[in-house]
Amino acid sequence: MNRQSKVDTYQRVVQEIEAVLESETDLLAAMVSIVCLLHQAFDAYFWTGFYRRVGPDRLLVGPYQGTLGCLHITFERGVCGACARSTQTIIVPDVHEFPGHIACDPNSKSEIVVPVFDRGGELIAVFDVDSDQYGAFDEVDRRYLESIMSRLARFDAAPLVWRSSVDGRLVD
Ligand code: SME
Repeated sequence: MNRQSKVDTYQRVVQEIEAVLESETDLLAAMVSIVCLLHQAFDAYFWTGFYRRVGPDRLLVGPYQGTLGCLHITFERGVCGACARSTQTIIVPDVHEFPGHIACDPNSKSEIVVPVFDRGGELIAVFDVDSDQYGAFDEVDRRYLESIMSRLARFDAAPLVWRSSVDGRLVD
């Protein structure tokens, strides 16, 4: 997909996401809808979804579309873990070159992982997109995906993610 087609597709999907989220108050419904719209829009998207933060250093899969994903990922492992640790978007042009990459599916060749924050700036999830093509993701993906993920900051994340502020203890 060339750059202009990618930009055009993101602009269309952003409009669809805005329309769907406009009157929505449920975080899970919002996450599922974002996954669906992005996964359907891009042929290069092989696995599209969230890993929710369910502990101080643990992620749990879902919601997502694609082949079976690893269920649990700690912050020490993989691209998702590196994103969660650094709270920065990570673009990996060739997953075989990334130390510790978790190969949930051998067809995965490149990926982008974007951090997701609540309105207080706490990490609540990472958003992971895998492609079966090398070098599928670039600054256009970063810009649009970070913008889309920032729209989740207005939802109440408490039912779906670990919150240290809930009662001061870790929730499994
Ligand atoms: N690519 C991830 C693992 C999850 S999946 O690919 C669905 C990683 O290395 O963090």
